[in-house]
Amino acid sequence: MNHKSHKAHIKYGEKILNNLRDKYFLKPDGSNLSVVIQSVQLALQSLIKKQGKGPIYPISKGIPRISEVVTNSKIPLKMNKTPSSVLKNLSSMVQGSIKAGNPLMVKNLIPVPSIPALASYLAVSTYMPNGVSGEDSGQILLAEIACTSALSKLAGIDANNSAGVFTFGGTATNLYAMKIGLSKVFPNHGLEGLKGNVVVIESAPAHYSHKTGANWLGIGQNNCIRISSNPDQTTKLDELEKICHKVIAEGKLIACINAVGGTTSNLGIDDVKKIYEIRERLVETFHLSYRPHIHMDSVLGWAFLNFINYDFKKNPLNFSGRAITQIKKIVNKIKTIKYADSFGVDFHKTGYVAYVSSMVIIKDKMDLMRLQRDINTMTPLFQDDEVYSPGKFTMETSRSSANILATWIALQTFGQEGYQALLGHAIEMGIVFRDGIEKNYRAGLYIANQEQFGPDIFVRCYRYGLDPQITYEIEMKNDNVLKENTKITNAFALWLHKNKSAGNRGFAISKSSAAIYTHTGAPMAALRIYPLSPYITVDSANKLIKYLVKAKMEFDTFYDNKAKSEHNR
Ligand SMILES: Cc1ncc(COP(=O)(O)O)c(C=O)c1O
Repeated sequence: MNHKSHKAHIKYGEKILNNLRDKYFLKPDGSNLSVVIQSVQLALQSLIKKQGKGPIYPISKGIPRISEVVTNSKIPLKMNKTPSSVLKNLSSMVQGSIKAGNPLMVKNLIPVPSIPALASYLAVSTYMPNGVSGEDSGQILLAEIACTSALSKLAGIDANNSAGVFTFGGTATNLYAMKIGLSKVFPNHGLEGLKGNVVVIESAPAHYSHKTGANWLGIGQNNCIRISSNPDQTTKLDELEKICHKVIAEGKLIACINAVGGTTSNLGIDDVKKIYEIRERLVETFHLSYRPHIHMDSVLGWAFLNFINYDFKKNPLNFSGRAITQIKKIVNKIKTIKYADSFGVDFHKTGYVAYVSSMVIIKDKMDLMRLQRDINTMTPLFQDDEVYSPGKFTMETSRSSANILATWIALQTFGQEGYQALLGHAIEMGIVFRDGIEKNYRAGLYIANQEQFGPDIFVRCYRYGLDPQITYEIEMKNDNVLKENTKITNAFALWLHKNKSAGNRGFAISKSSAAIYTHTGAPMAALRIYPLSPYITVDSANKLIKYLVKAKMEFDTFYDNKAKSEHNR
């Protein structure tokens, strides 16, 4: 390289670097703050401009096939694209996405994330504080202790003795609980592996992530024993006790008993006090040398702890009588959470915070200490013994403490009152949906979760002409009838997804293959309506019911014609 071209080379390199300094990062002195603000504005504007009115982001260009993505994706050689040209084009990359918050998006347990949390997440992320240790995060990471303490107080446990960590989803909160349970049964299992036959016990509606945990921890999925549930999705406690006796008599060790603290469908919540009493009886009767760990999977139900201090008599938020009765039922159960040794919290579900924000709270901090790794294995980290360093026992190394602080900001800005308003509204809207379905039973629709706990509504679908109530009662006892009718519910759900979710008059509802478990213990599939959005109104709920009923009539004709043509073939 001669002198001239070397100079040109440096110039080119410097140009690139300066461009990066100006447009890609927030400068150390914050002098290009406007670039950040403009970028956020541009990105949001790009989305909003083309988002349409429906619950699903419009698919205007067509979503590419996976094989096309595989073929066409590569990192460009040059920096030819300006950030603004890419951000302007964001709308073409989110086609088909659900739009949380849209009043006709009731698909799943998906809240619209709150702005204060999003804003603080962005702001704090610019410093890149790693939640592995306070050595990097300083005070930011103390938000983890603040969240633990605040949630412990709400749950009625001693905040001076509890511990809690943020982790990667509700799935991981269950993983932590089972891991602690394992350490109670086999204190050295971390070094030596599992020795002996160990099980986890829970009921049928428990989330599948528990099985994932048992699988990943080496307990084995088949050793995740599931007992039957009541129609409201709570655990059959007499059966729980019987099964515990049986497995102990067989020489097995119970690492963990998982209570339901808001099932995925119907928000069924166990009375953990009763499970605690069962555990105590087991320890005494069998002279157990360990205490089976009790975890409450309350990743959905925790948020209703915000009603603990609600004045139900004065009812300052003016909830209806029916909503009050329902909320009281939830609160009476969730307040038994204090009898659990640990419980899970998903802020990205009923906490109205963006993904991923979850915590496991542990009543006795010594239980979390059981997970502490040998300090010598973590060579590059933890030089200062005096700072808070959760990375000594968390499964993760890198963790976003910006996310942790953002979650704390959400709790601070909502307050208990904000959550009461949001969740109370969801309950009220659930009632509107329930009434709407009941009024339209002639369309072959019936509420599957008759013993409702939470705001979610499950709709069983039948062929036109069948009496929904009679058919439902039969299939609750008869697996063959259940199986036959499930075909209709499944076909209608798929047809709705394909034909009715897109566009300005679309509505997005989902289906659960196990909305409830019938009297025979079989899972019942049903359409699912989860009304979490604060933008749902009585009018929008009734509009959705109207669309659903109309769609069902259209589907009935389609299904009959299809059956006829198959018959004639
Ligand atoms: C009861 C319950 N537990 C655990 C999970 C898993 O949570 P995540 O999706 O955050 O991993 C879910 C998810 O819906 C759930 O409903």
